Amino acid sequence: MDYQIAELIRKKRDNNILSDIEIKFLVHEYAKGYVPDYQMSAFLMAAFLNGLNDQESSSLTHAMLSSGSILDLTHIPGIKVDKHSTGGVGDKLSLILAPIVASLGVPVPMVSGRGLGHTGGTLDKLESIPGFRVDVTLKRYVELVEKHGLVLAGQNDEMAPADKKMYALRDVTATVESIPLIAGSIMSKKLAEGIDALVLDVKYGSGAFMKTQAHAIELAQTLVDIGESFNKPTIAFISNMETPTGLAIGNWLEVLESIDVLQGNGPSDTQNQSTLLSGAMLYLAGTVPTIEAGIVEAKKAMSSGKAFQKFKDIVEAQGGDLSYIDRPDSRGTAKHCYPILNSTQGYITRLDAYQLGTLSVRLGAGRQQKEHDVDPLAGIILEKKLGDYVQKGETLMTLHTNKDLDVDELERWAFSSIEWGLTQPKPQPLVSHIVDKNGPKAYS
Ligand code: URA
Repeated sequence: MDYQIAELIRKKRDNNILSDIEIKFLVHEYAKGYVPDYQMSAFLMAAFLNGLNDQESSSLTHAMLSSGSILDLTHIPGIKVDKHSTGGVGDKLSLILAPIVASLGVPVPMVSGRGLGHTGGTLDKLESIPGFRVDVTLKRYVELVEKHGLVLAGQNDEMAPADKKMYALRDVTATVESIPLIAGSIMSKKLAEGIDALVLDVKYGSGAFMKTQAHAIELAQTLVDIGESFNKPTIAFISNMETPTGLAIGNWLEVLESIDVLQGNGPSDTQNQSTLLSGAMLYLAGTVPTIEAGIVEAKKAMSSGKAFQKFKDIVEAQGGDLSYIDRPDSRGTAKHCYPILNSTQGYITRLDAYQLGTLSVRLGAGRQQKEHDVDPLAGIILEKKLGDYVQKGETLMTLHTNKDLDVDELERWAFSSIEWGLTQPKPQPLVSHIVDKNGPKAYS
């Protein structure tokens, strides 16, 4: 059955409900190139403004998923589990938890994205390891999961191609920040990977897409409900992204921190969140009875060296030069490393993820335009964290860049991310809620 595209747009514009078949028609025709960008843009804006109900969100996910192929990994033993984060600053958790979980015998087929705006992307981080290839063919994708129980790849043209086109259009038509559109986009890609279960890290705060905890919980519940409607057990954690994760921001700098954490060292927030999400993945895979038992197993995989060995195996299998993992110093540093010295004294009461994320983009770690390359060595090392007491003249952070930038401007930018106070701020829990098919629950 054929529909008039303008009629479908009008229906959504007038806040009426589109049927499953109407959404499928629109999405598939667009993916095939029969619907022009201007019509899809109008539809996306109507959906952005009027929303989509649960049935329409589910239909959108189905339509984007069926625009491509769903990978079949059923011949590989075990429950395949992935984790997806809605993105943040300094969020290197995928690099840590994927090898932890795979080293414990649970297959992890992981498809990730590139840095977007002020947020970093797992693919850019992996590519900062010289030689590492994220653009694997579907055949190679399956082989890597068969052989190593792990693949760290980019979205292939055959995985939810409608989402790829629609996401690029949303990026330039101010229609990204819509819960049903984000949910359909994320879940269509994840479901195409061939997973059996999924753990989500939905972030809120200045450095996240969702600025408030309430919106993050709403998005998490929508994602979980879509996952469950596809019979894929799904759990989401709600985590705070007011301040960056860990101390490193920037591609190679984050790989270095991940190597530290995989070896049982590194910042405690990064360690704790990696083991929590790993524990949840192991729980969904059925290899442990509770998330807490999974956390214990994840810690053992780090202290025994198993997790780090799995990381090295996959780096080598995907073309990465292991000499840089064994001797990270040989990678060198950016041309300029500027220390930012504290101008006053007191407790750090704000260390803003968004400001630091945009500063790292300015230094070269992210893209100002889609076609730009990222500088693997650029970024920020935080020497102090939220809640630390800092004396005048102490180093707050070091800025790494290969660009010749105005140092005064960088200093002003760095200071705009910080506030000081006389009393130590009360520590905020990193993870506030866990959301499953029964709804959100406070997490402690
Ligand atoms: N990440 C995605 O993959 N899609 C969105 O819409 C937003 C974030």
